[in-house]
Amino acid sequence: MLRADAVLLEKVHASADDELARHGVAAHRIDKGLTESELIAALAAVPGTGPLVVGIRSKTQVTRAVIEATPRLVAIGAFCIGTDQIDLACARACGVAVFNAPFSSTRSVAELVMAELVTLSRQIVARSNAAHQGKWAKNAQGSREIRGKTLGIIGYGHIGSQLSVLAEAFGMQVIFHDIVAKLSLGNARQAASLHDVLSRSDFVSLHVPDTEFTRGMIGKTELAAMKSDSYLVNASRGRVVDLDALRQSLDAGHLAGAALDVYPQEPASESDRFECALQGLDNVILTPHIGGSTLEAQANIGLEVAGAVGRYLELGRTVGCVNLPQLDMPPPPSLRGKPACRLINIHRNVPGVLSRINRVIAESNVNIAGQALATLEDVGLLFVDMPLAPADSAADELCRAVAALDTSVRTRLVAL
Ligand code: NAI
Repeated sequence: MLRADAVLLEKVHASADDELARHGVAAHRIDKGLTESELIAALAAVPGTGPLVVGIRSKTQVTRAVIEATPRLVAIGAFCIGTDQIDLACARACGVAVFNAPFSSTRSVAELVMAELVTLSRQIVARSNAAHQGKWAKNAQGSREIRGKTLGIIGYGHIGSQLSVLAEAFGMQVIFHDIVAKLSLGNARQAASLHDVLSRSDFVSLHVPDTEFTRGMIGKTELAAMKSDSYLVNASRGRVVDLDALRQSLDAGHLAGAALDVYPQEPASESDRFECALQGLDNVILTPHIGGSTLEAQANIGLEVAGAVGRYLELGRTVGCVNLPQLDMPPPPSLRGKPACRLINIHRNVPGVLSRINRVIAESNVNIAGQALATLEDVGLLFVDMPLAPADSAADELCRAVAALDTSVRTRLVAL
């Protein structure tokens, strides 16, 4: 069984330890974020010479200095969605694979949005606030069921499509806008345009990434295009909505309410003060970026990232890797049940690199049972499957010869 070590920081969920152990990786925990120099020291202190993994969340920065000071580092697990805290370009140039968890909180976000649709439509925040103040606002004024209403989803990806299913179960009609043609789930229908969704929906929910095209995509013009008395929900990224324009639309009584989970500027920590143009309105739900903050999502993140890291260490599989080419080849059937190994080579993607590697392989007189290559811009990833035990000196010599090529960045052997 492969033997590797992982240093897990920032209270990554315990599900990660079990999943890593399943892949032969021993987890060492440090339950806080570390500075650059502390992280370098912590990684250097892990005994042994085998492959090393670091698992972080959003606080710890994995900088160039950390990566370059840790030659044993083969993979970085970002136990969250964002990877801005990692020097991805340096990791890639050094052949260090980075994995994150883009899908683990999908359901949690979709559930939060469903709760907000009902909360907004029944004016629960205003009525709850009134009750807390001793006022008995028992009336149906402005309160509606969400059944039969139209939900417009902008961005029909993982979260948008999951929300679509839940909303239909509530009896809503779903229309959506996406820049890509998408398979509609259930009775949902792709709309003709963004404007088409805005003008037909009783609720609009945003589920797009933060890109140059989505920043400010909901501003004054788009809010004006929404039906009067409709609601806006944003649990995607803060910069997608112009909050001043939203405030004006609410103050003017055009929109009936809004729910926001994300903001253009978010406090860095719980002790920092939160400021937002929408504060003080009881038809606006403000949540502190908690769309994915559930125990289930945290457990799923632990499994998703640890599983991806484990599969990378075991067989070099890079599905879900954010900075290396994606490659996933099962061991060839001809090697099943036999001593066999895989050479995993990350190289600079320059002309002639594959023929140089293959020349070394041909000269080694080792029979090749399978080979696969994937490239991504300046980096290539190669698998070479051989009918040799990893401890076999021929396999070891071949690995050393390939690693010695000046185009090779990182080369290792794993058992199949
Ligand atoms: P995804 O990548 O699966 O889906 C995004 C969809 O938006 C794709 O179908 C894409 O084609 C579409 N899209 C991209 N640009 C567009 C444009 N200009 N107009 C229309 N559609 C466009 O992403 P996923 O996982 O569904 O996440 C959606 C958003 O939710 C992301 O911004 C993510 O950061 C955010 N998120 C927020 C969380 C929270 O705690 N509130 C937790 C998890 C994700």
